[in-house]
Amino acid sequence: MAILVTGGAGFIGSHTVVELQNAGYDVVVVDNLSNSSEKSLERVKEITGKEVKFYKTDILDREGLEEIFAKEQIDSCIHFAGLKAVGESVQKPWEYYNNNIAGTLVLVDVMRKHNVKNIVFSSSSTVYGTPKSVPLTEKSPKGEPTNPYGWTKSMLEQILSDIQKADPEWNVILLRYFNPIGAHKSGKIGENPNGIPNNLMPYITQVAVGKLKELGVFGNDYPTKDGTGVRDYIHVVDLAEGHVKAVEKIKENPGLKIYNLGTGIGYSVLDIVKSFEEATGVKIPYVIKERRAGDIAENYADATLAKEELGWVAKNGIKEMCEDSWRWQSMNPNGFED
Ligand code: NAD
Ligand code: UD1
Repeated sequence: MAILVTGGAGFIGSHTVVELQNAGYDVVVVDNLSNSSEKSLERVKEITGKEVKFYKTDILDREGLEEIFAKEQIDSCIHFAGLKAVGESVQKPWEYYNNNIAGTLVLVDVMRKHNVKNIVFSSSSTVYGTPKSVPLTEKSPKGEPTNPYGWTKSMLEQILSDIQKADPEWNVILLRYFNPIGAHKSGKIGENPNGIPNNLMPYITQVAVGKLKELGVFGNDYPTKDGTGVRDYIHVVDLAEGHVKAVEKIKENPGLKIYNLGTGIGYSVLDIVKSFEEATGVKIPYVIKERRAGDIAENYADATLAKEELGWVAKNGIKEMCEDSWRWQSMNPNGFED
C-alpha cells in the first residue's frame, strides 16, 4: 500500500517524500508542476536511493486521478497541492478558490469512490487570523484570514471536517503549519520561489547570495520586543517528520484531528537576521520599511498536542534552520536550474 502525496514535487512535499521513503513507505506523487520542478524528485532519489513514482497530473483532472487510483494501491493521502502566494491570491481569487477548493473537492470525491478515506491536509496558522493571545493552541478561535489564500485554508478545514462528520469512516488530520524554513541537510532540495521572494527566509538567502541588495524589514513599531514581527519558524524536515507521524497514527487516532506544527518559540525579524549572520558569517544589510498590509504582530504555537498524541516534537533550532537554508541557497543559487 502506498501514500499518495499531492504537491509532492514542491517545497514541503519533496521533504516529506524523503522522510516517508526513509521510514519505509511506498510513495506516489501527483503534481502538475505549476510551482515546482520534476528535478526536485530526481534529487529526492539521490537522497534516498529510491525511485519516486510520479504522475504529472492536476488534481482538478478527475479522469487523471481516477486512473491513478485504479492503478496504484493507495492507502492514505497527504494533500499539499495548492497555490500559496498570498499577494497573488488577492489579485486572482477565482484561480485560488478554483485550484485549492475545487481541486480538493475532486480529490476527495475520487478518494471516497476508491474507498480511500484517510487524508492529512496542509493547513496554516493563517486560519487563526489576528491572535487574541499567544501561544496559539488548537482550541484558540479561528479568525478572519486577510486574503483569499488564507480563506481557502480555513474553508477547506471546514469542508473536510463536515465530510468526516457525515461519514465517520473518514480519518482527517488538519496540520496547521507555522513558518516553514530550512532545507534538507544534503543541500539538494529546498524552497525555490518564483521571482522575488515574499517570505522572509528566502529573501534573506537571496540577499546573502548577492541576488538582492538588502532586506526590507516590514515595520519596527509592532508591540513586540524589538518592534518587528514575531513568528514561529519551523525546520521543514521537522515538519516533514510531523507528516510521517500523522500518517502513522491516522488509523489508531481516528476521526477528525487538528494539530499545530511549530516549535513554540517566537523570533522577531531582527532575531532572524542576527541568527542568520551568526550561523553563516554572511552579513545581511537591511532597511526598515512600512508595515506590510495584512501582517500581524506576533504568532507562535503551543505544539503540546502534537507531542502528546503524535509523539512529535521539532528537533532543529534556529541555527540549523539558518545553516540549512543557506546551504541550499548557496549550492543552488538558481534553484533547480543549477
Ligand atoms: P509549493 O508551491 O512548493 O508546493 C505545492 C505543490 O503543489 C507545487 O509543487 C505545485 O506545483 C503543486 N500544485 C499546485 N496546484 C496543483 C494542482 N491543481 N494539481 C496538482 N499539483 C498542484 O508549496 P509548499 O510551501 O510546499 O506548500 C505545500 C502546502 O502547504 C500548500 O498547500 C501550502 O498552502 C501549505 N502551507 C505552506 C506554508 C509555507 O509557508 N510554505 C505554510 C502553511 C501551509
Ligand atoms: C506568510 C503568509 C501566511 C502563511 C505563512 C506561513 C503572507 C502575508 N502571509 O506569513 O499566509 O501562512 O507565511 O509560512 O505572506 N518580513 C519582512 N521582510 C520581508 C519578508 C517578511 O520584514 O521581505 C517579515 C514579515 O513582516 C513577518 C515576518 O517577516 O513579520 C515573516 O514573514 P513571512 O515569511 O512572509 O511569513 P508570514 O507573514 O508569517
